[in-house]
Parts: sequence; C-alpha cells; structure tokens
Amino acid sequence: MATINDNYLKLKAGYLFPEIGRRVKAFAEANPEAPIIRLGIGDVTEPLPAACREAMVKAVEDMGSRDTFKGYGPEQGYEWLREKIAEHDFKSRGCDVDASEIFISDGSKCDCGNILDIFGNNNTIAVTDPVYPVYVDTNVMAGHTGDANENGEYGGLVYLPITAGNNFTAEIPTDKKVDLIYLCFPNNPTGATATKEHLQGWVNYAKANGSIIFFDAAYEAYITDPSLPHSIYEIEGARDCAIEFRSFSKNAGFTGTRCALTVVPKTLTGKAADGSDVEIWKLWNRRQSTKFNGVSYIVQRGAEAVYSEAGKAQIQALVNFYMENAAIIREKLTAAGIEVFGGENAPYVWVKTPHGLSSWDFFQKLLETCNVVGTPGSGFGAAGEGYFRISAFNSRENVEEAMRRIVEKFKV
Ligand code: MLT
Repeated sequence: MATINDNYLKLKAGYLFPEIGRRVKAFAEANPEAPIIRLGIGDVTEPLPAACREAMVKAVEDMGSRDTFKGYGPEQGYEWLREKIAEHDFKSRGCDVDASEIFISDGSKCDCGNILDIFGNNNTIAVTDPVYPVYVDTNVMAGHTGDANENGEYGGLVYLPITAGNNFTAEIPTDKKVDLIYLCFPNNPTGATATKEHLQGWVNYAKANGSIIFFDAAYEAYITDPSLPHSIYEIEGARDCAIEFRSFSKNAGFTGTRCALTVVPKTLTGKAADGSDVEIWKLWNRRQSTKFNGVSYIVQRGAEAVYSEAGKAQIQALVNFYMENAAIIREKLTAAGIEVFGGENAPYVWVKTPHGLSSWDFFQKLLETCNVVGTPGSGFGAAGEGYFRISAFNSRENVEEAMRRIVEKFKV
C-alpha cells in the first residue's frame, strides 16, 4: 500500500490565496452581477514593459532559426543575464555578489520552498508573525514542525511578532538560538521596512550563532526611502550568513511570465553531520542541476531587457504607478478614520480593521457590502488578527472605486 507524506495532513485546509479565491468564487456565483474588485493576492495587473516584450519577441524569432535556436540552457541561468543582475542589482549598490553566485529560477516562491531540500531536519526555524505563508507551509511539508494549535501556530517554529507594538520590526531573540531565519523586507504582508542597523543586528546574530538568514527581497523595487537597504548584502558580513531571493514578478510584472533569482554566496557554509563545514553553493547547484532544467531562453531574454535603459525607465514607471495606488489607499482610508501602516516603501497597505472587526469578519463584510476583496491579516499568522492587507496592484480606476466603496461603508 502506498503511503503518503503525513506532514501534509498537518497543513491548514487550503493555502491562503486559493482559499480566498474559493470564497470569492462562491460569492460571485451567488451574486453574478456584483462588480467585484480584487485587491487580495498581490498579482500585477499592468502590461509587461515594452522592452521586455520586444526582447521576448526577438527571442522567439531566435528559436525559429537553426543558427540561433536554443535547447537546454544552463541550469543556473544564462551568464549574460546573471552578469547584468550582478552589475545592476548588486555591484551598483556596493554589494559583493558575483554572477556565479546567482541562480535564475521560475519564482521566488518555488525557491523559498525548494531551498529546504539542502538543509537538515533538526534546524530551529524562525519566522515573523504575520508571515508570507509559503515559509511556514513548506516547513510543515518537510516535517520540520509539530501540529498547529488553535491559533494556527505550528509546534517547533519560533514566531517573531511584527506588530504596531514593536514598530513592525522582527526582534532578535535574546533567549533562544535559531538556525534558519526568514526575513522579508519590504515586508509582505505589513509593508514594513528594515533599516541597515536592524539588518546589521540580524547579521551579527546569525554570524555569532552559525545561523543562516533567508532574505526575501521580492519587493525591493518599491523602496522609496533612499536610506533603506535593498539587499541583505549591503550589510557587512551578510555574505557569510545569508541567501537572498529576488523576483521579476513585482517590479517587471512577471507573475505570469515567471522569472526570479536566488543568490547563494560561495562564502556561505553549513555544518555536515560529521561537524565539517560544507559550501551551501555547491549543494544548491547540485540540487538545481538535478531537479531543475532552467528558465526558458525566451523569458530570460525578457528579464535581461529589464536592465536596458528603456527597460529601467519602464519598470520605474510601473513601480511608480502602483505606489501612487498605495498612496491613494493610505490617504483615503486615513481620511475616513481607518488606521493604516505600510504602503510607503511597499505595494501593500496594512489596515487596522475598523469597528473592532476580526480579520475574516471584515473580509466577509467587505466582500458582501462593497464587493471588494482583500486579505485577512490573520491568514498570515496569529499576530495578524485585527488587520487586513490591501494590495496596490490594480488599475487606478479599480483602486479609486474600491476606496470610494470602503469609505462609504466603513468610515469611523
Ligand atoms: C501575495 O499576495 O502575498 C503574493 O502575491 C504571493 C506571492 O507572490 O506568491
């Protein structure tokens, strides 16, 4: 009899976004006329930048001629793309990241989960609360946790609350040692940011304890405050203790096109069972070349165009557009007496639910009375209860209309 991975049975019924999708679908079927506006999942709505489209069209043509046709590409990604990334995303900000340390993939979500393949099963794992659910669920699947309690917190994980009470910073544990730490800044879901000093604290902690930081920088393009770091490698010592995940999804609109990257410095090591130090880069390279065959040539050419002069300008315009949406959300809700956080260096606005409603009650009321979809804060963790995430990824018209409806019904 075939048996299953029982760890899957510990998972809460559905991954957060499909669960929201299910509820919205049920509502839409019962109310086919409802003009639903979706500000839930952080999925981009605006067209791909022209520079990326043109590069992909040309790449399709390359595939049509024997001379320029491409079969399997390098598992790690084409060097011409990795060189551009190293130059523009890292070296230009003073980060010591070499093209050989960059791995191109089809998504940060996949990489955040897949990275666990190369780590042991006895690590103590820290996540923020609220948190991007992928970090937690992939650890549950890998058998790194116990069961969930009534708040949805899994045994064995160390939760670091990020709340208004601590100004949305992930406080460094003073009483326990953690081995793997997930940090996401600008933060999903709260839109909070981390200063260089704060990240330096984490890097110092990781170095002192032999820990590794998984730094998710998927939203770095949304940083407007020039004092904030875009990469963990802007922090001294991070090459020895951090892996960084980045994506073309949120800056260049690649959520449906799929391209991302992970940086694994060659100086990063972990302990083998016999106590020896092993290069993490070698393990990740081995994992990727065994289980992954690279991102399509066409998509990598599209990603490369992000770094052309035209591409850079078009991407900045896209980011500015979504950030103007975030400013509208902040402004309208604040004027209506609703407390908001984030949305200044991130495309997410973290809203204190009005009238003392729970996160899911607000979700349901908002859907039923305003036909607006957002994401309940408690879906990201127990400390998200009483909050609600509104995504700035939508058309201007939809954002303005959604705010008009919310203000009308929920003004305090
Ligand atoms: C979100 O809404 O949190 C994101 O869209 C999730 C993701 O990027 O996978």
